[in-house]
Amino acid sequence: MRVQKLSLRNFRNYTEAIFIPHPSINIITGSNAQGKTNLLEGIYYSLRGRSFRAERDKDISKWQTKQTIIDSEISLTSRIFHIHWKIGERTKKLFFNGVETPRSELDHFGVVMFSPEDLYLIKGSPQERRHFLDFEVGQLSPGYSKIWRQYSRVLHQRNTLLKEIRDRRSNPEMLEVWDDQLYRHGAKVIYLRLEVLKKLIPLARKIHFSLTGGAEELQVKYLSSLVLEPGLSEEKIYQIFLNSSKKLRKIELLRCQTLLGPHRDDLSLAINGIEAKTFGSQGQQRTVTLSLKLSQLDLWYHEFGYYPVLLLDDVLFELDRDRQSMLVNKVMNKVQTFITTSFTGGIEETIKGSGILWQVQAGSLRQREEF
Ligand SMILES: Nc1ncnc2c1ncn2[C@@H]1O[C@H](COP(=O)(O)OP(=O)(O)OP(=O)(O)O)[C@@H](O)[C@H]1O
Ligand SMILES: [Mg+2]
Repeated sequence: MRVQKLSLRNFRNYTEAIFIPHPSINIITGSNAQGKTNLLEGIYYSLRGRSFRAERDKDISKWQTKQTIIDSEISLTSRIFHIHWKIGERTKKLFFNGVETPRSELDHFGVVMFSPEDLYLIKGSPQERRHFLDFEVGQLSPGYSKIWRQYSRVLHQRNTLLKEIRDRRSNPEMLEVWDDQLYRHGAKVIYLRLEVLKKLIPLARKIHFSLTGGAEELQVKYLSSLVLEPGLSEEKIYQIFLNSSKKLRKIELLRCQTLLGPHRDDLSLAINGIEAKTFGSQGQQRTVTLSLKLSQLDLWYHEFGYYPVLLLDDVLFELDRDRQSMLVNKVMNKVQTFITTSFTGGIEETIKGSGILWQVQAGSLRQREEF
């Protein structure tokens, strides 16, 4: 899969930009605050229909403008797809090959992003790891995002109802209306997460082992709020969810919170049996994150027969030389990669013949050198 062309109009600090990237490696250089991360955000938005950093869609529109256009041409299995986003003050429309379409049409366009914030995947709260499960692991399971949205909606409604029951504005019997949907959707969310993790974890472990020259073994475990044995069917998870939830009904009514389900689950990440969050060094935590990112590329290829695009925001030069070259060799001429950096550190030599160096300055983009 390749981004052949990206046009931005009134996107962040870009007024009008056309970007025709190299099919393999694109290094985007420039001083701070020139628009390097914004360019990656444009690619990401085009493929996912949301930003990786803006809370609200209107934040991505260039200040004092009313309409943002993100237009891209993507090649995939020898076909070209046209993705056109039109974002106004209160509207957001996607035109796919010229026809207005829902966002789910883009599910098969993959993007893997690695930025300094991703270290929170290791260091941060369970919420950060659930974000990883829902927006990264979920990408690898067709239909996941839809079921996850349905679950989130039911969960929200149920929590609202718990409050209304406490305030005597609703009747406890009303819970039945939401409970079955909560268990059905929740069991599916957990089941799909486990199915992807079953394939992703061995790949991540293998990559981690080779990134550390065989010195470190990575362990990843799904920690559920339900008591689950390995290999359960979706139906069995549903039964366990239903039975466990019934026992907590009284406490849930007191606390006005749904206490069990995928929204309470977490991942445990350990190196040689020791928790990475508490005991891992910065470098070790970065390597765990890198292993989890690279394993997504491999799994995507394995499942769908092509690689997604890879966005590396300010992270390549944080890695030591060996890890940098391992990463570059892994992606070169296979995965279209976009790397932002304010310093190139001699990477030009490594990627000679397989990439372009770009220069960004105040929202304008030019090619610096072809190798
Ligand atoms: N909605 C917006 N409209 C106009 N400009 C914006 C908008 N949002 C952000 N900017 C500006 O875009 C500029 C470039 O941001 P960006 O994050 O892309 O910088 P960068 O080149 O990645 O810098 P760094 O090396 O520090 O990471 C910032 O100065 C920011 O103020
Ligand atoms: Mg940046």
